[in-house]
Formats: sequence, structure tokens, C-alpha cells
Amino acid sequence: MSDNTTLSIAVLSGKGGVGKSNLALNMSLALNQKGRKVLLIDCDLGLANLDVLLGITPSGDMQKLIDDDLAPSDVLTPITADGFDLLPASSGLVESFDKQHLVPGLLVKKLGRLASAYDYVIMDIGAGISPMVLNFAAMAMMRILVITPEPTSLTDSYALVKVLAARQNIRDHLVLVNQVESAKQEEQAFKRLAAACSHFLNITPVNLGSVRLDNNLTEAVRRQKPMLLEFPQSKSAADFHSLAEKLEKLRAGMLPRLAGSPPLRQPS
Ligand SMILES: Nc1ncnc2c1ncn2[C@@H]1O[C@H](COP(=O)(O)OP(=O)(O)OP(=O)(O)O)[C@@H](O)[C@H]1O
Ligand SMILES: [Mg+2]
Repeated sequence: MSDNTTLSIAVLSGKGGVGKSNLALNMSLALNQKGRKVLLIDCDLGLANLDVLLGITPSGDMQKLIDDDLAPSDVLTPITADGFDLLPASSGLVESFDKQHLVPGLLVKKLGRLASAYDYVIMDIGAGISPMVLNFAAMAMMRILVITPEPTSLTDSYALVKVLAARQNIRDHLVLVNQVESAKQEEQAFKRLAAACSHFLNITPVNLGSVRLDNNLTEAVRRQKPMLLEFPQSKSAADFHSLAEKLEKLRAGMLPRLAGSPPLRQPS
């Protein structure tokens, strides 16, 4: 199934708690169920929670990779037997606060060629607009900006788009509206963000669709089991599968470009 090219995707949000980690996890599982090799990286340093969502206690983490002389494969936790691996973040602080923005660059160096062994590298990035967040965002080939229909999510997302353009010259965004209760709500939320980005920043985000508000997802979080495995028939599971379909199409269209580029860029 592998075609020797890797698409790296950063999952971002301006506002915290909008559903990035659950999206990154379930989207990774959906892609893995299609036969894709996926590396999921927990880039939410200090507030790591992909291991919590999975109900596991990993032995290796990003801090060990960066600080100790370990091979990348020594710090990965296999999540499935078919090529879905997690690089956990540490639950303490990786670096002192004033040095955290250096971690993305160190990670690119340490991962080296390992990332190329996967079809997708998915990065779950912390919320906000810190230099570390901006540097992680710049590492990936593609970015998914997760928003919810709440006005605060829209204003915070706009701020993130603006800062990414100013600091990293990043102007491409795929927008995913999470926790929607109707197609109309998705359309309205996307349109409001897109209108502000277009009017004030001359940036045109792309609508990647939505994931519905689903009590099963909350219950899966409580059980510390991935939603896609715990409630495979639920409405949000269907949405994660259609998101994976869309990503497969996008990736297929990018293959010539991906073939000639390293999977992760060194942030400037
Ligand atoms: N589609 C959904 N339907 C219902 N609840 C959801 C949905 N997506 C997320 N949630 C709720 O939002 C909570 C936060 O989700 P998650 O931890 O994935 O957000 P996050 O953006 O990663 O947060 P942080 O910014 O703290 O990293 C979940 O525990 C769940 O209760
Ligand atoms: Mg999170």
C-alpha cells in the first residue's frame, strides 16, 4: 500500500479544547484502517494527552528522544499491529519555557529518516499562538485548523491564521468544523472565518468539512478508548472515515510534490 511518500499534517487550533487531539487520533486510526502507515506525534508538550485518550502508559517520549541518545524507534509506542505508531510527548516540561520553541527543530533532526517510513505523519499541536506552536505548524506540509461554531473559536482561529502568515509566511489552511449540530452550522462557521481571512489577510482557507457533535465521543474519552474503536457505528466515526477519504484524495493529488520533498521541514 505504501508508495514511499509521506504527507505530514499539523492539527491546529487558536482556542483550546475544540477537539484537536480526538480528531488527530481518530483520523489517524481511520487512515490506518485504510492500510496506511501513520505516525502520530503528540506535540502538546507538557500537556500531553494522546496517551490518556488511548489509556496507555508509554515508556518512551519526545523528551527522551531529544535528551537521550536513543534511536527514534526506541521511543515509539505501537498502537496497532498494522503500522500506526505514537510518539508521545512527556507529561512534564520538555525544555524550560523560554527554550520550548527550539523543540520542533530538534525533533526534525532527531526523527531523521524515520518519518519517511510512514504514509502520514500527523502532529497534534497545542492551542494558541506561542512560538513553539508556530514552529511545529511550520514543520508540516499541510495544516488542518480545527474550529467550532463558537464565536470565541472563530476569533482565536483568525488570530492564529494572522500570526502564521506574519511569522511563518503560512497562508494555506484546511478548516475542519468540529462539534456541529447541522450542515448549516458548519457552513456558517466556515463562511465567517473564511470571510475575515479573505477580507483582512487575502487568505482563502479551504473547507474540509465537519465532525458532528457526538455524545459517544465524550463517552469514549471517559473510557480512555479511541472513539473509532469503541463506537465504530457512531455518527462521528462516519465523519472521521469521510475525512480520511478526503485526505487520501488530497494526498494522491500531491504525490509528485511529496516525492521530491522531505516529510518534515526544519522551521525557520
Ligand atoms: N465531535 C465532538 N462531539 C462531542 N464532544 C466533543 C467532540 N470533539 C471534542 N469533544 C469534547 O471536547 C473535549 C476536548 O477534546 P480534545 O481534548 O480533543 O480537544 P483539544 O483541542 O485537543 O484540547 P487542548 O487544546 O486542551 O489540547 C473532549 O474531551 C470531548 O468531551
Ligand atoms: Mg489536545
